[in-house]
Amino acid sequence: MFISLILLTGCKVKQVAESMVLEQNKLIFNEEELYRPKFHFTPKQNWMNDPNGMFYLNGNYHLFFQYYPDSTVWGPMHWGHAISTDLVTWKEQSIALFPDEKGYIFSGSAVVDINNTSGFAGGSKKPVIAMFTYHNPKLEKEGKIEYQSQGIAYSLDEGMTWTKYVGNPVIKNPGTKDFRDPKMSWDPIHNQWNMVLAAGDKSMFYNSKNLKDWKYLSTFGKDIGSHRGIWECPDFFPISVDGTNEIKWILIQSVVAGGPNGGTGTQYFIGDFDGKIFTLDTTFKKELKAEKAMWIDFGRDNYAGVTWSNIPATDGRKLFLGWMSNWEYAEKVPTNKWRSSMTIVRELKLIKNENQYRIVSQPVKEINNYISKSIKKGDFIIEGETVLVTKSELDFSSLDIRFKIKNIQKDIYTFSFFNAVGDSLKFGFNNKEKFFFLDRTKSGNLSFSDRFAPIISIAPIKEEFKNIDIRVLLDKTSIEIFYNNGKTVMTEIFFPQKPIEAFSAKSENFNVEIVGMTIHQLKFD
Ligand code: FRU
Repeated sequence: MFISLILLTGCKVKQVAESMVLEQNKLIFNEEELYRPKFHFTPKQNWMNDPNGMFYLNGNYHLFFQYYPDSTVWGPMHWGHAISTDLVTWKEQSIALFPDEKGYIFSGSAVVDINNTSGFAGGSKKPVIAMFTYHNPKLEKEGKIEYQSQGIAYSLDEGMTWTKYVGNPVIKNPGTKDFRDPKMSWDPIHNQWNMVLAAGDKSMFYNSKNLKDWKYLSTFGKDIGSHRGIWECPDFFPISVDGTNEIKWILIQSVVAGGPNGGTGTQYFIGDFDGKIFTLDTTFKKELKAEKAMWIDFGRDNYAGVTWSNIPATDGRKLFLGWMSNWEYAEKVPTNKWRSSMTIVRELKLIKNENQYRIVSQPVKEINNYISKSIKKGDFIIEGETVLVTKSELDFSSLDIRFKIKNIQKDIYTFSFFNAVGDSLKFGFNNKEKFFFLDRTKSGNLSFSDRFAPIISIAPIKEEFKNIDIRVLLDKTSIEIFYNNGKTVMTEIFFPQKPIEAFSAKSENFNVEIVGMTIHQLKFD
């Protein structure tokens, strides 16, 4: 059962808001309670940015991350470390890599060297090799160009402790100012280790037989895709088109400015790779012409995302996670103990529809293990603005909402999370002007940065649909929306003044015909 009422109109909003102001003055702001995500990884304290060095081994998913342990703003970079056995809850570990005389430890990757091609292990041990960028602040200050190079470190205890290689750097700077974020992977097709890194306006490809000696192969991307800012944090891997044996190669390439709704964003390219050169697929070239870039996520808070290495073939998933923030305001978000969190882990798939390839992403299935209660709303029709569920039934700090809408008209469909102090987070789609939207312009605390919510974020609706499938993950300070099984994704953070208390739906002129709505409560200890 749901209550159907027009909520928060005219004078009612004012009265509620006034009483809440009084109540608020009495409230002691508890950052942990109000803002610490329930099921998105955050460091216990201080600054975090990009995910790094993700690998799987013996039941553990490892996540390293850009970390500055002395402040809540960016500083000399270390690699922090966290481990999960199910990709959903994480245990933070001690710091894995510290800066040294060669520089800060910028972003990079890790692989499990099963056949000990590197020779770092004796006996039956499997070394884990990490490659990162050395960023030398001294050379940078001196105005030199060559202040970034690539170094490696190895671990003989499954990623818990690391030894930096004496022969570092393994790749010297070739005279390129921005030269960073190496992503290594085993290439089973060409029987080699591949590595891609970002070099200003392009991605550079390398290969190796032993993870120590790297050979430059080719570059990609100078005049292709979005170049409003420099490129950072690439990833490169083969993937089969879902349900077929056709293999395509994906280059994921984050860009520091010019994201789909401003600031940082993550674009991708689809093509082929002959072991040396990455060539864009011809069908994809056409899409790029129309769109300039294809985006993994249209929200403003999914950056520098890459995939896990060494996922067993029996699992076979491409697992991806991004940093849930944006360089336009990351250092200013209103948390004082820690800064920023990661997205939920997502499974990436490549689909092909009418000769068009596209990446789709969905939350990992492991999230289902955290469902503690499900409210089945089923099929129903909404006339006017309708509250679907309130805090009397659910705790809004961790929800997984799934439903479909049928008989979609040329109308605007809006869903809203809100509280009694007037904060609202709205999302939905405008099927007249053909875009999805995510509106945090009234979502609570916005004052920390005028770059945080200057506009409503949108994503183009590329194809006509009569029905739509929607899934929403709501944490205390983030929303992740997956439309049509992850064909369009929007991820954003928000900072309400009080917890969210209700969820409503409305359309402008026609009814909203909801099918199979289930609201899952997620529970974490
Ligand atoms: C991306 C990035 C990387 C770099 C790291 C430094 O967010 O700028 O290019 O390695 O952050 O922390």
